[in-house]
Amino acid sequence: MRILLLFLLVLVSLSAEEKDSFITEAEYAQHLYENPRGIGCNKCHGKKGEGMVISKYKHKGENRVLETKEINTLNYEDFTYALKNKKSIMPKYFLTSKEINALYSYLHKTKESK
Ligand code: HEC
Repeated sequence: MRILLLFLLVLVSLSAEEKDSFITEAEYAQHLYENPRGIGCNKCHGKKGEGMVISKYKHKGENRVLETKEINTLNYEDFTYALKNKKSIMPKYFLTSKEINALYSYLHKTKESK
């Protein structure tokens, strides 16, 4: 009887764990956008890829602004190109094409839900 109870307990906790660890593809993509293997894209491109001012500074007495344009309207080719080739101060990421696809559809989805 005790063994049976223990067995049931293990079964219940196993299925609970499965539920907790389940995330949808959209949730996965959002996590990836905010926590890729490196600095989050959102830190320089805004929450939904809308673009933002990263920093304002003075260079030789002149006011300068370091900013990004929106990346949630780029087409797939330009988006992929930018992630595979270094641009400006953006760090180089080593994302798989699956990850790039997820990021691309995440940005286009958040754009629609604005
Ligand atoms: C440290 C800041 C920084 C981080 C972090 C960063 N980027 Fe960038 N990114 C830039 C800058 C600066 C540019 C060049 C300015 C521009 O084109 O808007 C750029 C350009 C781009 C472009 C090309 C834009 C164009 O118009 O061609 C894409 C696409 C892009 N980033 C996507 C991403 C994604 C996706 C991530 C996360 C995996 C990311 N970036 C992380 C700063 C950053």
